Amino acid sequence: MKWTTEKRYQNYDNWDAATLLQLQAQAANSPYQMHYHIRPQSGLLNDPNGFSYYNGEFHVFYQNFPFGPVHGLKSWFHMTSPDLVHWENKGLALIPDTVYDSHGAYSGSALPLPSGDLFLMYTGNHRDADWIRTPYQLGALMDSKGNVTKLDHPLIMPPDYVSEHFRDPQVIRYNDTYYALLGAQDQETKTGHIVVYKSRDLKQWQDLGYLDFTEQEMGYMIECPNLVFVNDQPVLIFCPQGLDKNIASYDNIYPNMYLIGEDIRLNGPKMTPAQPQPLNLDDGFDVYASQAFNAPDGKAYLISWVGLPDTTYPTDSEGWANCLSQVKELELRDGHLYQHPVVAMGSLRQQGTLLRPERRVNDRQQLLDQSGNQYELRLTLRKNQHGSLHLAASADLSQGLRLDFNTGADASLTLDRGQAGLAVATDYGTTRTITLPAHRDCQLDIFIDGSLCEVFVNDGHNVMTARFFADPSHQTVAFVAEQAIDFTGTYWPLKK
Ligand code: FRU
Repeated sequence: MKWTTEKRYQNYDNWDAATLLQLQAQAANSPYQMHYHIRPQSGLLNDPNGFSYYNGEFHVFYQNFPFGPVHGLKSWFHMTSPDLVHWENKGLALIPDTVYDSHGAYSGSALPLPSGDLFLMYTGNHRDADWIRTPYQLGALMDSKGNVTKLDHPLIMPPDYVSEHFRDPQVIRYNDTYYALLGAQDQETKTGHIVVYKSRDLKQWQDLGYLDFTEQEMGYMIECPNLVFVNDQPVLIFCPQGLDKNIASYDNIYPNMYLIGEDIRLNGPKMTPAQPQPLNLDDGFDVYASQAFNAPDGKAYLISWVGLPDTTYPTDSEGWANCLSQVKELELRDGHLYQHPVVAMGSLRQQGTLLRPERRVNDRQQLLDQSGNQYELRLTLRKNQHGSLHLAASADLSQGLRLDFNTGADASLTLDRGQAGLAVATDYGTTRTITLPAHRDCQLDIFIDGSLCEVFVNDGHNVMTARFFADPSHQTVAFVAEQAIDFTGTYWPLKK
């Protein structure tokens, strides 16, 4: 199908039910499908929205264009979970059906209210006949039955000092006041900023101007700003598009970064950074638009889009694209942001198998012949070794995902998807590398789910995420190294 602008933005009523059912079936039956991650029921998934705890369950919505693998007219698709691992599809919750969101119900957030409703704040993307965009910040209330009522009027109109790029409100309650953080591009300088608004009643919003959080220029646009408190310290998560790589290095088309603050003040908005520059939230290939929130259980949870703007993926030919990451629990330890799988991830484990180092032939040490496509692999690689771990590999190991490790002097870990089947975004390279502490054991917790790989390194000091599109029958897991690799490990097939 040729995706003209008309096709992308036509009213949902113009699509017939048969097309939607066919797209749903195609996605469900894909050989590359994820089975314990949130994936689109049909079409394209992008940003997580409204990640929250409300009415006794966790909620997340995702940006969805249900009718194909392209960025068309966006809605919010609603998911709920008791434990952040088992998710239920609730269907479309916010549909672009008013003049203010005529060209998409864009990203936003959610906050449970004392009244018993869940307040949704989002960007209505409106374009006029000349395709001139006006971004309206809109509100809606969801009741405990999941019924959504949109508020009649925009809550925030774009101020004159921002360009048409003004979106993705995060609404939070802080010191008994409501605040909204918004991604923006300055009209005059065309640089990226975060605008802060304040409200007592969620109706009248007062513009507090730009958040002062860095001396450096944050690219040409900041998308999806998100403030979360981790071990009582503020952590700002954001996507500074076009960020100068001399300020903070990254390899993906657009980065998703975080900056830890010493403290924050939202009235006269200023965050004193505790780091010289922002850092990548994920050291792999595809994480973007992450949202985190402080849950009533006292924990800070994070979820991300695994996919990137302006990037095509191999499943586009199957009519669907992208997924959300697993939820991670955030921790600040020794001034560093750690990410952990949530406790309930353990409930997916089936019978575990201890892996033993003895199966070595020539330079190859076979760990698994048939790993399956949904599993967790926990390994501790002893210090002062180097070699490669092959995952989702063909029997001869010529194809597969590779982790090249060195736990000696120049300690590093490289995730290489260059030989892992169908190519993805190769203009941005096929490897991602992090440094590791020298002469130390390295601990890896690897999650595979179809075409998604998430590697937690050293108890979540780093996470490396990758989509990869290997032949699903390629299921060999093996080390290749000059010397026998000294390690301990456990493998669990995971429930779908
Ligand atoms: C980020 C983003 C947001 C926007 C949404 C539209 O991926 O561009 O800034 O609200 O996607 O789907």
